[in-house]
Parts: sequence; C-alpha cells; structure tokens
Amino acid sequence: MGPPDPILGVTEAYKRDTNSKKMNLGVGFFLTACYFLFSFFLSSWWTEVQMGPPDPILGVTEAYKRDTNSKKMNLGVGAYRDDNGKPYVLGCVRKAEALIASKMLDKEYLPIGGLGDFNKACAELALGPDCEVLKSKRSITVQTISGTGSLRIGANFLSRFHTVARDVYLPKPSWGNHTPIFRDAGMQLKAYRYYDPATCGFDFTGALDDISKIPEHSVIMLHACAHNPTGVDPRPEQWKELSAVIKKRKLLVFFDMAYQGFASGDIDRDAWAVRYFIEQGHNVLLSQSFAKNMGLYGERVGGFTVVCADAEEAKRVESQLKILIRPIYSNPPMNGARIASTILSTPDLRSTWLEEVKGMADRIIEMREMLVTNLKKEGSTHNWQHVIDQIGMFCFTGLKPEQVERLTKEFSVYMTKDGRISVAGVTSGNVGYLAHAIHQVTK
Ligand code: LMR
Repeated sequence: MGPPDPILGVTEAYKRDTNSKKMNLGVGFFLTACYFLFSFFLSSWWTEVQMGPPDPILGVTEAYKRDTNSKKMNLGVGAYRDDNGKPYVLGCVRKAEALIASKMLDKEYLPIGGLGDFNKACAELALGPDCEVLKSKRSITVQTISGTGSLRIGANFLSRFHTVARDVYLPKPSWGNHTPIFRDAGMQLKAYRYYDPATCGFDFTGALDDISKIPEHSVIMLHACAHNPTGVDPRPEQWKELSAVIKKRKLLVFFDMAYQGFASGDIDRDAWAVRYFIEQGHNVLLSQSFAKNMGLYGERVGGFTVVCADAEEAKRVESQLKILIRPIYSNPPMNGARIASTILSTPDLRSTWLEEVKGMADRIIEMREMLVTNLKKEGSTHNWQHVIDQIGMFCFTGLKPEQVERLTKEFSVYMTKDGRISVAGVTSGNVGYLAHAIHQVTK
C-alpha cells in the first residue's frame, strides 16, 4: 500500500471527517509562479536538437490543412464525420452539457484518480454491470486523459511493478502510438502475427503460433474490437482459443478498447472479448477511450482499469496509480468526465447515446458498401470484399505506399502511409471521387 499524496491526501482525509466545523486548508489554491526571461540566452541552447518527423497519423491532418484543392479528403486521423463531412457532436452530449451547466457546479480539483461516478460507470460499461469483479470490488478504475493517457499510465505501471518481464507483445501491425507509449515508459516492444496481407483478414494460425511461443509473464496487447489499423477482429470462437493459449503461456493481458460500440453498433457485443477473458480468469489491464464512441475527442476522457486478485490488492494498486499520476498531471480534467458519466447514468440520455453510436457505426458500414459499389462502377476488377468485411472506423485497403503517395499528390486524398483509411471521413458526396482516385492508382 502506497502512502496518500501529501497534499491531495489531505482533501481525502478532510472529506472523511464528520465534524461540522472541519476546515480544509491543505491545497494551495494560488500558485506562486516566478518566471525569468532567459530568451536571450536560450537562443543558443538547443543547437543539438534535430528536426523530428511529423506524427504518422496526426501529421496527415497538418498536410491536409495546407492543401488548397477543394476536393481534398482527410482520411488520415480516426475522427467521425457526418454525411456532410462535418465533425459531429452527439445530441446526448449537447443535452448532458446543458444539464451540467444548469447545475452551476464548482470547478474544484478532482481527486487524483478522477471523478468517482465516471470511474464506476466506465468500468460497468466495459465489464458489464453484473460482473463478479465489480461486485467483489477486486478492480480499480482511474479516469485518464483519454485512451492514450490510459495506455501511458498502464505502461508506467507495468514499468514500475511488472518487473518479472519487460516485453510487451503488440499485434503486427498495431496502432502507431502503441510503440512510443510503451517504449517511452521503458518497456520493450515485440510483435505477434495478426494481419494476413494475402487475405486482408486475420492470420489466426500465425497469431496462435506466435503467441504459443511468447515467454511466460510477458504482456500481450489485444485490441478489444475494431482493430486499429486493420479493421480485422477475431471471431468469438477464435477469441476463445486465443484466451486458452494466452492462459497456458501465463501472459498478462492488456486490452485496448478505444472503439466500444463503434465496431458492431452494440456496446455489449463489442465488449464481448474483454468480458470473456475476465470470465476465464485473466486479471486484465484495460484502457478505454470515449473519444470515438461519444465523440469527445478534444475532451480527453478515458479510463484505466486493473483487475486484481482481490479487493485488498485493488486498494494497493489504486494507491500506486495515484502516486504515478500525481507527478504527471496531478489530477484529470473534469468536463468530459462529467459529460460521459451524465450520459451513462441518465436513462434517456443513455438510450439516445446507444442509438447515436449505432447510427455512426451504420453510416460507416454503408460507406464501405458504397465505396466498393463505386469502385466496381469505375471498372475496377480487384477484389475489394475486405473493405466490406473489415469492421470499425478503419479500412486497411492494401494500397501500397507509392499508391498512397499518388492518391495524395494527384488527388489530394490524405491517408496514412500504411494504406489505412478512416472510413468515417467518407461521405455519400465524396465516395465517388474517392473510388475514382483509388481506381486510377490501382488499375
Ligand atoms: C487514430 O488512430 O487515427 C486515432 O486513434 C487518433 C490518434 O490519436 O491516432
């Protein structure tokens, strides 16, 4: 058990005190800041710093913004657009915001682990409200700075406490940011086969074969649903076999669930693998994001959960997570967590949300079909069935880097170099142009 934080811990003790005259003089509300102007001297301090490359995903948006072609398309970053190509703020989010505003709530610091109501709702959403783990209180969930922040807190936790093994096995390929997140936290990156370029589908045999050889106690990263970047997920019977071999190898499972609801349109169906693994006795780590499924991209709302052996272990883990978080960002921002927890705990907002998630997932499925129809209309004779079969926000087109380059240069269609497109950026208005462009570079 780690000690409470010397400053924020005072607030926690204060909250537990029942004396009506209690006073909390622990937290300093006025930051003392001394700032000296060293700019004259600084000009020569960073001559050794080399220019770094743009981010492989977010850098695409920067290049797109510089393009003046009126037909340009940004299929790089995974961010949902409506059928007019506009960012979409969910109706349930607007309503939750109005509800929160009407309460005139304060803006005090949240606890280090975030908003308690949010954490509870976040864990229930992933694990299911009847999960034994929640009933026996043998898990801990902390609010994080969206999925990336969650993964990084998880990576830091592994780096500090999972000293028995340093290797993290990622599917090949995996989300581009997984590698720097774990590497910067001091873990070592390895990979297991996942995507089969020959079928544009899941390499189940390759994955099983590689996983069965992973050294015991290593960490294995699994994408819970809507695999990023390939859009290829194992089927339930394949998940079952993966669970068995992972258990046999005594691997520590880290689930990344950034797209719950976005794969099938059904939040329970998309959480199936996580829930199955827990039922099978895997004490998993879990990262969640509300960027995509609530459209709360810039609000940075996420959760990190550790399933433990028992409630006492969960308490100890919680204390150490707080010690990790405190020197990084002290405590998380409240606005997005309030929005998400209001939606999850208000029945009519929750049901609106479920409809809206399904609406987004369905529009993406429709765009996949329209893209293939339009490619055929263009005269393409390639087999594009994988565009329809893959799931979630992304399609791993199979386009080669030189074809991607032509798409960008000649048609102003922006995407990541690996051939991934964010189908969420395709609309009924631009799908014809996209199909034409793809056909021109693949014929
Ligand atoms: C993506 O893969 O495009 C998203 O997860 C956004 C990001 O931060 O990379």
